[in-house]
Amino acid sequence: MKNYAKLDEVLYHIGFAPKAIEGAELAILPGDPGRVEFLAKALGENASFVACHREYTSWITEINGCKVLVCSTGMGGPAVGICLEELARVGIKKVIRVGTTGSIQPEIALGDVIIDKASVRLDGTSTHYAPVEFPAVADFELTMALAASAKNLGIKAHLGIAVSSDTFYPGQERYDSFTGYVPRRFQGTLKEWQALGAANYEMETSALFVVSQALGIKAAALCGVVAQRTESEAVVTGDFYNSAMEKIVKIIQKAEV
Ligand code: URA
Repeated sequence: MKNYAKLDEVLYHIGFAPKAIEGAELAILPGDPGRVEFLAKALGENASFVACHREYTSWITEINGCKVLVCSTGMGGPAVGICLEELARVGIKKVIRVGTTGSIQPEIALGDVIIDKASVRLDGTSTHYAPVEFPAVADFELTMALAASAKNLGIKAHLGIAVSSDTFYPGQERYDSFTGYVPRRFQGTLKEWQALGAANYEMETSALFVVSQALGIKAAALCGVVAQRTESEAVVTGDFYNSAMEKIVKIIQKAEV
């Protein structure tokens, strides 16, 4: 039996009860709590604050007459796992991650949008829900609805495979860290993921896909490119970030989800 929360039962981490989200079944999930208010207002109408506890900031908005929750997941798999467990209990059925990412293919540029259809499980959280042999895949229909929306809008969106790492530095083979050391396990892995045709590094999507599957939630993920790893290890935000977010907002607004 599914353990739904009572209407006025406040969930510990996300800090709100089912009644606060007014029947919303879709949640938009940025990683950063600082992006939630902007996204809620940009995506829809009548946006209002719901709760703020730890890394979970939540607003409710209305897209085409439907209530939609916007809730930050925080960074990394563990925070995503907690968020999904509690969102399932308040009645969320579909989630769309809105993240930032580093491209690892030369044709995917800064400011571009990537829709991840699957993910390499370089995280720990997903192994607590399913054995490593189990795939981290997006919900097909939700993903294709986002891809179709991008196509109809004339927005270029790359459909790709993410590499979701628990670490920003060694797991994404970054040498510009404090010590500059990358353990042997990760040395040469950037080249290997490139050779296999993976599109991008990020830190949440494999946990999102596997935990959602385990809970019976439909999940998709969209990322804006803020690092181009065939050129540099640096993250470049500003205009590239803003242009990717503008495109992502339009894609979600017009998607038939
Ligand atoms: N987020 C990541 O995890 N990696 C990047 O390179 C950029 C954003």
